[in-house]
Amino acid sequence: MKILLTGCAGFIGYFVAEKLLARGDLVSGFDNLNEYYDVGLKQARLKRLERPGFTFEQGDCADGAALSRFFRREAPDAVIHLAAQAGVRYSLQNPGAYVHSNLLGFTHVLEACREQAVKHLVYASTSSVYGGNRKLPFSESDSVDHPVSFYAATKKANELMAHSYSHVYRLPTTGLRFFTVYGPWGRPDMSPMLFASAIVKGEPINVFNYGDMSRDFTYVDDIVEATVRILDRPAQPDPEYDAGHPNPASSDAPWRIYNIGNHAAVGLLEYIEALEQALGRTTEKRLLPMQVGDVRSTYADTQLLEKAIGFIPETPLSVGLERFAQWYLSYAGQGSGPGG
Ligand SMILES: NC(=O)c1ccc[n+]([C@@H]2O[C@H](COP(=O)([O-])OP(=O)(O)OC[C@H]3O[C@@H](n4cnc5c(N)ncnc54)[C@H](O)[C@@H]3O)[C@@H](O)[C@H]2O)c1
Repeated sequence: MKILLTGCAGFIGYFVAEKLLARGDLVSGFDNLNEYYDVGLKQARLKRLERPGFTFEQGDCADGAALSRFFRREAPDAVIHLAAQAGVRYSLQNPGAYVHSNLLGFTHVLEACREQAVKHLVYASTSSVYGGNRKLPFSESDSVDHPVSFYAATKKANELMAHSYSHVYRLPTTGLRFFTVYGPWGRPDMSPMLFASAIVKGEPINVFNYGDMSRDFTYVDDIVEATVRILDRPAQPDPEYDAGHPNPASSDAPWRIYNIGNHAAVGLLEYIEALEQALGRTTEKRLLPMQVGDVRSTYADTQLLEKAIGFIPETPLSVGLERFAQWYLSYAGQGSGPGG
């Protein structure tokens, strides 16, 4: 298959491209290489993808004409859309970046998919859409109408926008709610990299809500496995959908939503301890109050995913953090790494 992959220079996009290429797909990568974090890291990922079967175009999804040209030229069978402005905290500082990439950019992706009649659009949503929900684990059938960050609001908007295209144009779309993804080649704005950098330098780390938080940490290889399996199963209308009692997880349009998480909530302090162990060092913890926009716990119900693809993330945190730490120490050790 020929897969058009947006956000291919990003953390998850890089690994998705590796997986698709390894199984013999052609990958048409698209990314604007923006400066939200170290462009050198994005370029290093891209360099590793250079091989027959992979093409790359630098461009912005919010540039509708450029995106449409790229889609016409590449004529993909299916699309994985991972390009987005990510990050909960940054959405408090720069909401415009989220409107640009997540709302305008996503609109152009939908339009381009419609124009090219692609067989399946798979796109990244986030566990952040569960917002202020308290019922754990988070299920796709729960209402997600109470986002607590602008980032979450734009991702929830993507799910709704996708539904409208699935309904009106019968475009098969599947939204994936990723739960805190970690692994080698990760994002410098996320806690594994931020904490590792501080731990290695012996600097204190900021622990919010006095450590009373938990996250469902998902190893990147598991995210990729689930994403690619989903790609191969274009969303279909749900014959059991009942418009009289609408299930938020389903539809009579070819539209689906899945949680992709490790179905385990790990306490923040336990996670930091495991990371310290993997790095072989400890550091001081600075206990601070909760940050606005953050949620206290995330925890994925993965039954729908398991039913759909016969796979759920299982990598234990200690194993994933060990692999992350090995990469981090060698990458940062080169001097060009995060904080190095
Ligand atoms: N990493 C996580 O824990 C996590 C959790 C939930 C959801 N997600 C979502 O998964 C997707 C991938 O996340 P990631 O962690 O790999 O992030 P990332 O920032 O590493 O990757 C996103 C890539 O998209 C590119 N990009 C951003 N805006 C663009 C635009 N307008 N046009 C073209 N390219 C653009 C960036 O340059 C970057 O390379 C995102 O949609 C993110 O919101 C990630």
